Amino acid sequence: MMSRVPQVIVVDPDRESAAELQKMLQLIGLEVIASAGYGVEAFTLAVTQRPDIVLMRVEEPLVRPIQTLAKLRDGMPDMPIVVFSTEANIKLVRQSMVNGASDYLQEPLSEEMLEDSILSVLERKEREMMRRRGELDEPVPQGTIITVFGAKGGIGKTTISSNLAVALATEAHQTVALVDMDTRFGDVAITLDIPVERSIADLARNLENIDRQSLHDYLVEHESGVRILPAPTRPSDWRHLTAKNVRDVIDVLAQTHDFVILDTPGTFNEIVAAAIEVGSMILLVTTLDMASIKDTVLALEMLHERFGNDEERIKVVLNRAGVDTGVRESDVENTLDSPLWWRIPQDNEVVRSAQLGKPIVMFRPNSKVSIEIQKMARSLAGVRGNTHAKRKGGLGKLLFPFMRKSA
Ligand SMILES: Nc1ncnc2c1ncn2[C@@H]1O[C@H](COP(=O)(O)OP(=O)(O)OP(=O)(O)O)[C@@H](O)[C@H]1O
Ligand SMILES: [Mg+2]
Repeated sequence: MMSRVPQVIVVDPDRESAAELQKMLQLIGLEVIASAGYGVEAFTLAVTQRPDIVLMRVEEPLVRPIQTLAKLRDGMPDMPIVVFSTEANIKLVRQSMVNGASDYLQEPLSEEMLEDSILSVLERKEREMMRRRGELDEPVPQGTIITVFGAKGGIGKTTISSNLAVALATEAHQTVALVDMDTRFGDVAITLDIPVERSIADLARNLENIDRQSLHDYLVEHESGVRILPAPTRPSDWRHLTAKNVRDVIDVLAQTHDFVILDTPGTFNEIVAAAIEVGSMILLVTTLDMASIKDTVLALEMLHERFGNDEERIKVVLNRAGVDTGVRESDVENTLDSPLWWRIPQDNEVVRSAQLGKPIVMFRPNSKVSIEIQKMARSLAGVRGNTHAKRKGGLGKLLFPFMRKSA
């Protein structure tokens, strides 16, 4: 990381607002070298001072600010430029992006906003430089890790994780690994009626000697295509696993699957903490009864405290929606101070299908529960319904002659 205080210049033709911004930047510990107006002044200052980052106002009419932005970008491509504006319409944002802005902030600016933006832009730049100098490990692909978590037992975590995994594989055509991380009574294998020969404990033990091929020997392939890594049949085997073991296993799986779904127990321990930490997304399952909601409030607080309050990452899923418990969904949202991201209805077919060892999305694909889980899977995979309209050519045709010309 950068070992000195980052230096900034502010490009804003309005001296008063430039001075105000300078003050804020100093308060968050940055060194403001100077400020300048658009055009020649900004360019000359940037070339002579070579700051670590530029903060620049963009307002309509766009000609001058965008011309300045483009010139700075072209002249000093390694110098990140964060744009701010009183407006946030798509035209301004797009013009800024196309001309190389690293971030776009809308006024009023706060210290926190500035700090977050500048730090993440500088960090990205630093990684970019390290990557170019060959100082980083070989890049590896990474799938999306979804941790299904809940504050209580018996609220549908395993039902949701198993069916979501199956729907991602069958409906959204993704490669999916499902890991049973229930450290007490892992029952994914029973729910999906698959044999258990080896478990996550065996894989963790042998991880050093494993390549992509042998990795698959540890996974049981379900008829849906989902590859399952079962929990150990003896819960005591978990005791030999550390949080690091678990992270390493998930890491390996994420390198070879579009999605890795983690099912967790209704308790919290260091293994579960590891599952939450690595999750790209945490689905916090709750039901409509008071006890479950009360525990979910506590779980949500714990998640925010320990793992950060990121509403894109932590989503609440209501299971058994529609059961009359006297509690309304809006009450749940108010109590949790968080919207319900998805609602999965109550349906007795879920229990029947579980008894038969068939996921409901395969056993009763047209039931309301299945339809919701399929929709959730498509939305997570970014697949929209059945519109497969394919267009050919455009960019390919354009790009190639252009690249040849400039080469
Ligand atoms: N939407 C639903 N409608 C009806 N029954 C459901 C629904 N979701 C789950 N169930 C049933 O509730 C019971 C508990 O579900 P599940 O095993 O998925 O919960 P869990 O949170 O994983 O529990 P545990 O913490 O014990 O692992 C099962 O019998 C399951 O079939
Ligand atoms: Mg379970």
